[in-house]
Amino acid sequence: MMRPLVVGNWKMNLDFVEAIHLTQQLGVVLRSRPLEHVDIVLVPPFVDLRSVTSIIDSERMPVEVGAQHVSMHDSGAHTGEVSASMLRRLAVDWVLVGHSERRAMYAMSDAVVAATMKAALRHGLKPILCVGESLEVREADGHLAFVSDQLQSALADLSGGEDLITVAYEPVWAIGTGRTAGTDQVREMMQHIRGVLNTRGLTNARILYGGSVNPENARDLMVDGKVNGFLVGGASLKAESFLAIADNANDCYDGKR
Ligand code: PGA
Repeated sequence: MMRPLVVGNWKMNLDFVEAIHLTQQLGVVLRSRPLEHVDIVLVPPFVDLRSVTSIIDSERMPVEVGAQHVSMHDSGAHTGEVSASMLRRLAVDWVLVGHSERRAMYAMSDAVVAATMKAALRHGLKPILCVGESLEVREADGHLAFVSDQLQSALADLSGGEDLITVAYEPVWAIGTGRTAGTDQVREMMQHIRGVLNTRGLTNARILYGGSVNPENARDLMVDGKVNGFLVGGASLKAESFLAIADNANDCYDGKR
C-alpha cells in the first residue's frame, strides 16, 4: 500500500483572512493529533498562497501547499495567468492540472493540459493530473477508454520529472453533487489507471479519488476502492471534516503497512 495523500482543493472559496483562520485551525488540531502516515496538501486560491505558506512555515505544520492552476507559459504577455516559477518562489510544491472545472468552464483542452504538465515539471512543481468522465460517457460505458485517452494525451512526450506526477480520478458526475462513485466503480478505475501508468513507466505515481469525498465514505474508498488518497473539495473547507478524512486515510495505512 502506498502512503496516502490527502489534498484539499478550496476552489474559489475563502479570502486571505478566512484562509489564515482555517490554516491556523488545522495547525492546532494537527499539533494535538499528529497524522504521521499521510501526506497533506492544501490548495487555496492564488491570493491566499502567501498567507497560507507563512503560517505553515511559522507553525512548522507537516503540510504542503499547491496551486489550483498554472500557466503553460514561463513568462510574458499572458494577462491573468501565473507562472510555475512564480509559484515555486512562494514555496508552492504542487499544482492541480486539468481539473474538470477548468476543462469545462475555461476551455482547457487536452493539448493545453499536456503543455501545462510540461511547464509544471520543467519547474519542479508536482502536478496532480485530474481525469474523469461525464455522466453521459459513464452511462454509455465509455469511461475506461475516455480516461485512457485523457491520460495518454496528458502524458505524451514528457521528458523528465515523471516521478513527480500524481493522478486524481474525479468522475465529473460525482464532483460537488453529493453522489460518490461506488467502491466497485472506483476500484475498477484505479486498476485501469494503474495499468495505463505502468505502460508509461509511472509505477510509483499515487492515484487519488475525488468527488464528494467526506468523513463517512473515506474509509470504504480507501479499503474497498483501493485509492492512494483523496482530492477533497467541499469537505476541505472545514478543519473538522478535512482532518477526519485525513485521519481515516492515516489509520487505513497505519493498519496495513
Ligand atoms: P467535491 O470536489 O469534493 O466538492 O466533490 C472535488 C474536486 O472538485 O476536487
